[in-house]
Amino acid sequence: MKLETFQDLLRMAGGFQPAKIFLVANDLDLFTLLGGERDAEDLAAQLGVQPRALGILLDALTAMGLLQKSAAGYRNAELAQTWLSAGPGYRGHIFKHLHHCWQAWNGLERILREGNLVTPMEKEILVDSERWNHIFINGMDDVTRELAPQVVAQLDLADVDVLMDLGGGPGTYVAAFLARFPHLREVRLFDLPETLEVAREKLAARGLLERVNLIPGDFLRNELGEGLDAVWVSQVLHSQSKEGCRLVLEKVWRALNPGGRVLVHEFFLGEDRAAPLRPAIFSVHMLVMTEGGRAYSHAEIARLLEQIGFEAVETLAVSEDTGLVMGRKPR
Ligand SMILES: C[S@@+](CC[C@H](N)C(=O)[O-])C[C@H]1O[C@@H](n2cnc3c(N)ncnc32)[C@H](O)[C@@H]1O
Repeated sequence: MKLETFQDLLRMAGGFQPAKIFLVANDLDLFTLLGGERDAEDLAAQLGVQPRALGILLDALTAMGLLQKSAAGYRNAELAQTWLSAGPGYRGHIFKHLHHCWQAWNGLERILREGNLVTPMEKEILVDSERWNHIFINGMDDVTRELAPQVVAQLDLADVDVLMDLGGGPGTYVAAFLARFPHLREVRLFDLPETLEVAREKLAARGLLERVNLIPGDFLRNELGEGLDAVWVSQVLHSQSKEGCRLVLEKVWRALNPGGRVLVHEFFLGEDRAAPLRPAIFSVHMLVMTEGGRAYSHAEIARLLEQIGFEAVETLAVSEDTGLVMGRKPR
């Protein structure tokens, strides 16, 4: 983030305004309704909102490049039509999730003053409700559809028969593993029961349901099973405290065969934890969204793995924003 002038500060601080306009429009499923030209009054009536307010919002969305305006009304610009209108390309879940998280971000100042108190009510509103978990997990698929094959292409799992995707969410990585490594004898996706419902839908749509063993469980309370040659732990540890990470990684250790591997995929921070920008901001996201989570540095996770007993611990950058820390259980 290059901030040099007062104007840069103004632009950064005002960033919440276009974000809010877009997120409210996406919550209203406005872009699904604007596949063809629509008059503002008519649209307001359908949505049950104030025509004056909607007109102002539609003009701003047009100025932002998400809509086009003509004498006949408003319609989606190409970007909105491609990603935000209901259909096979739809990826609006992740933005609904982000907007939902805004509620938690409103508590940042309180968290700074009072400590990281996620009250049971907030926790329920933010993460525990079934509807929001469904949107969140679909949102994970929205953001990893291209990333997962790109990351998996950089791995070598030739010696792996049995793979577990721990906290595998919608199954996007599992699909990428099956495509890249057809020799895998068994692929297990371990996740919370409500998340597995989304995984089931997504894997069925990809024709892969028969090839994946869906294992319901809570990795904080349950053991992970046994007989694994590799465990993929992607974007899971950041929602845990350091002690939580250790607990999860010790379970991975116990579930692995001798010679088995753990592969931790995260938005990693640098050694001093003050860069890069995306993980540093993501760490604040975890501060407001979880009780003890944050982004970690490669070195912190590598040290944890070594303390648990993993050897040949190494790190690898696999995308612009993410990296891997891997280790092997001795034979
Ligand atoms: C941020 S998502 C990551 C999904 C996927 N691994 C990826 O990289 O896109 C975190 C996942 O961890 C799962 N999860 C969170 N807490 C869990 C728990 N206690 N036990 C099992 N899974 C959990 C969530 O359901 C979700 O699928």
